[in-house]
Amino acid sequence: MMNSSSLEGEKRIFRRLIRISRDRDYPLNHLETVLLPLFQKDYTEDSLRVTIESANHIWCAYENGQCLGCVLATDIGSHGGVYVILFGVCESVQGLGIGTRMLKKMIKWCRKRRRSFIFLLTEDYNERAIRLYEKAGFEKHFHSTMYDEPLPEHGQGVLPLMLLL
Ligand SMILES: CC(C)(COP(=O)(O)OP(=O)(O)OC[C@H]1O[C@@H](n2cnc3c(N)ncnc32)[C@H](O)[C@@H]1OP(=O)(O)O)[C@@H](O)C(=O)NCCC(=O)NCCS
Repeated sequence: MMNSSSLEGEKRIFRRLIRISRDRDYPLNHLETVLLPLFQKDYTEDSLRVTIESANHIWCAYENGQCLGCVLATDIGSHGGVYVILFGVCESVQGLGIGTRMLKKMIKWCRKRRRSFIFLLTEDYNERAIRLYEKAGFEKHFHSTMYDEPLPEHGQGVLPLMLLL
């Protein structure tokens, strides 16, 4: 049985092996391998491909040439907003901090370039994702009237989250 300090050590070892980068020329099949199993409820191979092609920004986590996680995002509005379209980590390596690191990397990149906000939608029962976003500073309660341009629409059971930068 692993105690908490050896688990932390394990996480640190793992951290050294993972590389997170943005907008490299990622092979389409790497992105599909990560995202399709996670979002097959909502996407077909074709619709996922269209979504990947529509992303202006992509961050990926790689270990030894294997893609383990990715964030697809796109610019929205004319005030420097960024919209996270899809965010996922391969099921076999969830819970190791990869999602948190990718999110931090994306936020850092957006801040450095003076982006105004990051907006995303998640299912309202996805507690793990919501916790992750809230820890990074995203808020459930914000006034979209602050923006003179409409944010992406959503149906019932979907929670909008906003991080003002
Ligand atoms: C949401 C997701 C991206 C998080 O990535 P991850 O690499 O697993 O996240 P992290 O390891 O950085 O952990 C984030 C938080 O989730 C918690 N967590 C991790 N594994 C967990 C598990 N098996 N059960 C419950 N919580 C868990 C962690 O404890 C951490 O919280 P903490 O910082 O308070 O400890 C990933 O779970 C995923 O791809 N899920 C499926 C797709 C999805 O839901 N995407 C988001 C849609 S908007």
